[in-house]
Amino acid sequence: MNTVTITPFLNAVHRGQVVALWNAVFGYDAAHNAPGLVIDGKIAVDDGLFFVALAGAEIVGTVMAGFDGHRGWIYSLAVSPSHRREGIGSRLVMQAERALAERGCMKINLQIIEGKERVASFYSALGYSIEKRVSMGKRIPENIPVG
Ligand SMILES: CC(C)(COP(=O)(O)OP(=O)(O)OC[C@H]1O[C@@H](n2cnc3c(N)ncnc32)[C@H](O)[C@@H]1OP(=O)(O)O)[C@@H](O)C(=O)NCCC(=O)NCCS
Repeated sequence: MNTVTITPFLNAVHRGQVVALWNAVFGYDAAHNAPGLVIDGKIAVDDGLFFVALAGAEIVGTVMAGFDGHRGWIYSLAVSPSHRREGIGSRLVMQAERALAERGCMKINLQIIEGKERVASFYSALGYSIEKRVSMGKRIPENIPVG
């Protein structure tokens, strides 16, 4: 088995494999979550908060984080089904946490979508706890590509 390393995302090298991994793991159905769009948006922000896990040249995991100057968010955490329960997901979260902490982040939030509540025990093991919140969202249609 190859040693797994965690490294910043490089569009020219990693893009195709990340799109394939996200399609396999998340199976997106909403246009605003199309992998290419998410990647392009993150590149435009250029905040250094997008990491991939590599086993040799194979991408086996991803994580993104976001920072607003106070709170941080973790999202797009995915590990290839063939590499789960090897500690890669935990390492990706810890990498995102380190990067957020270096930027002065005081609190990290994340969301688990309905139907995936079992993942809460993964995050609990990393120190996260369930908070009583109602999650709301609003789409900006003029920025979402049609078709
Ligand atoms: C959730 C996910 C990222 C975990 O990645 P991973 O590399 O398998 O996680 P780790 O090996 O670091 O797991 C560490 C511990 O978390 C717990 N854990 C991991 N996956 C779990 C799951 N699906 N359900 C419950 N507990 C889990 C276990 O206690 C595990 O320790 P163990 O293997 O010694 O029992 C991976 O299953 C995945 O990509 N799932 C699909 C996408 C997803 O749900 N992303 C999160 C959206 S919020």
